[in-house]
This record gives sequence, structure tokens and C-alpha cells, in this order.
Amino acid sequence: MNGYNVAILGATGAVGGRLISQLAQSDIPVKNLRLLASKRSAGKTLKFKDQELTVEETTPNSFKNVDLVLASAGGSVSQKFLPIAVKNGAVCVDNTSAFRMDPEVPLVIPEVNRQALKKHHGIIANPNCSTIQMVLALEPIRQAYGLKQIIVSTYQAVSGAGQAAWNELLHQAQQRLNNEPMTAEITPVKGEAHHYPLAFNLLPQIDVFEPDGYTHEEWKMIHETKKIMLDDMDSPEIKVTATCVRVPVELGHGESVYFTVDDKTAKPSDLRRVLEGFPGIVVQDDPDEQLYPQPLTAAGKRETFVGRLRADAENPGAFNMWVVSDNLLKGAAWNTVEIAECLVKDGLI
Ligand code: A2P
Repeated sequence: MNGYNVAILGATGAVGGRLISQLAQSDIPVKNLRLLASKRSAGKTLKFKDQELTVEETTPNSFKNVDLVLASAGGSVSQKFLPIAVKNGAVCVDNTSAFRMDPEVPLVIPEVNRQALKKHHGIIANPNCSTIQMVLALEPIRQAYGLKQIIVSTYQAVSGAGQAAWNELLHQAQQRLNNEPMTAEITPVKGEAHHYPLAFNLLPQIDVFEPDGYTHEEWKMIHETKKIMLDDMDSPEIKVTATCVRVPVELGHGESVYFTVDDKTAKPSDLRRVLEGFPGIVVQDDPDEQLYPQPLTAAGKRETFVGRLRADAENPGAFNMWVVSDNLLKGAAWNTVEIAECLVKDGLI
């Protein structure tokens, strides 16, 4: 094969732009790239390597002669177009939640469950950004010491809510600096009944509420973790609970992760050692040097950063750690392109 015909669905969005640049840096041979978005963006031009490419409106005909689709245009758009792309013979890596819980669709973090790709039927789902960085940081610990329970609180950047929410946060900050009242039409969640400023604030709502009082983002963290680690979205083997909070940070999610392991003799130095040897993880953990992961230092990087690792002195086998990653790279565009690289290397496309 002298290259693949690739389409990026949602090419003009916050993740879409990074899909273009991550694809340009990847070793996937690209014969032809189509940039797809809504009618609003048709005719715009975007750069891929040294080419200026014109964005096209997405229609069912957009997927003729396409081998690989990288999608990040929202769940309903994926639901509408990806089955058409698959019918046309393409393999799709979807960054939305549309197909994540479909038992026929692998949900993949390559460093954790690359082997699940073998079972694909045309669509592979990219997990939620907050799930990816937590599961990646816990997997080496699970492999070495067993994992019993996870209690996570997230501090999630506004870019995870899309480019328009990101622009709104900057506008709110400007309003505050100008001593004007802050306005909100998107934050915390586009389409919800109430909106609140995120600038200089914290909003404990990401996605809509479920009947049990959890938000859908929290639901995703719980069930995606079980599907990725245990191949069963409802497995009772690892207990997971989550509180997800939107914070006025542009790029890079932080997570405070409390977890218990099976091996009660494990020490923080043991956990640090297994984390240091795991692909995609960088340990930044030196209290003497005030070294710990931060969104500002993680932004633009593909790795997931782990620090503040310490034992719960009152509960043997229990630990706290702090995990930060660029939510638009490992949490989205890089994990998607990394999946596509694995599909190519493993002969699954
Ligand atoms: P557009 O820029 O034309 O609206 P974000 O996650 O940053 O909000 O980006 C969403 C992406 O999804 C954008 O590229 C957007 O294109 C694209 N998109 C939104 N609605 C559609 C649609 N109906 N068909 C195709 N692409 C869409």
C-alpha cells in the first residue's frame, strides 16, 4: 500500500486542528486527506504538512474511497456518518461518546488494551479525556499490585467543552478585568437550562445530570474505566466513583486520584518505579524541588504526568496521586492518531 485516504470529520474544531497536526507528525502514510466539517466552514482552508487543503461540507458522499476516518464532530454527527463510512469500507476512530458502550466497539488506550483492536468491526472508540489519563496512570499499578477501588476528583480544562466554550471563558475573564458583569451562554454545558460564568469560578457539572445525581461525565469515567481495564462496563471487580469539576484552565486536565491496591505491602517507591517504566507516563514527583505536574507544563505534550504520589497513613494499601495530561492530545487527538498508527502496524485496516 502506498498510503491511505484519510478523512478528518470535525477538522475545524479544537480537537480537529490537533488531529491534523498529530496526523502530520505520525508515521501513517497519507495518500490523500479530506477535511470535513459543517456547511458553515465549507471553503475555509487549513494546512496539512505543506499543503493548503479546503474544508468540505460533510455529506454521505464524503466517505467514498476513504480508508480511515478520524472523527471529532460530536456524537450525533458520528452516529449519522460513521455507519455510512464503514459501509463504504473505511475504518473509523471516533473521539465522541456515540459508540463507546457498544459491546461490538473496542474502547482503546493503546498502552493499556491494544489487543482489543483486533475485535473491531469498522469503528473503534477513543475514551473520554478524563478517563484516558487516569486509566493510563493506574494501569501499571494494577498490573503490578492489583487494583480494588478508585475515588477520583477531576479539575477539567474548558477546552474539553469545545472551542466556543474556550472562547467564552476568555471573554468572561476580559469582562471581569474590565469590571463588567460576566455573561455565560455555554458554560458549564451547551444547551442546558442554566449557564454560569466559569472565569474565577468552579463548576461541578460536566455534561448533563443522570437520574442518580451523577453527571454523565462521572458516569463515563466509571463505566469506561471498567470496560477498558476489565472488558465489562459493569464489572464489580474494581469499584470506581468520580466527581468531575470544570475549572478555569485553558488546556490540561488535573485529577486527584485516591486508590487502593490488593498488595498491602506496596510502598510509594514501588508504585513510582512501575510508573517510570510505563510507556506514555512521566513521573514528576519531587517535593524537595517543588516538582509536580501542572496543566501549563503539560499542555502541548503527548505524555501523561504523575506526581504527589503518597500513601494514606491510616489505610494500608491506599494511595493518593495527582495526574495531569493535555486533554486535547492524549485525551483526544493523540490517542486517536495513536490508535490509527496501531491499526496500520497491526494490519487491521
Ligand atoms: P464547524 O466549524 O463547521 O461548525 P468543537 O468540538 O471545537 O466545538 O468542534 C466541533 C467540530 O465539529 C467542528 O469542526 C464543527 O464544524 C464540526 N461539526 C459540527 N456540526 C457538524 C455537522 N453537522 N457536520 C459536520 N461537522 C460538524
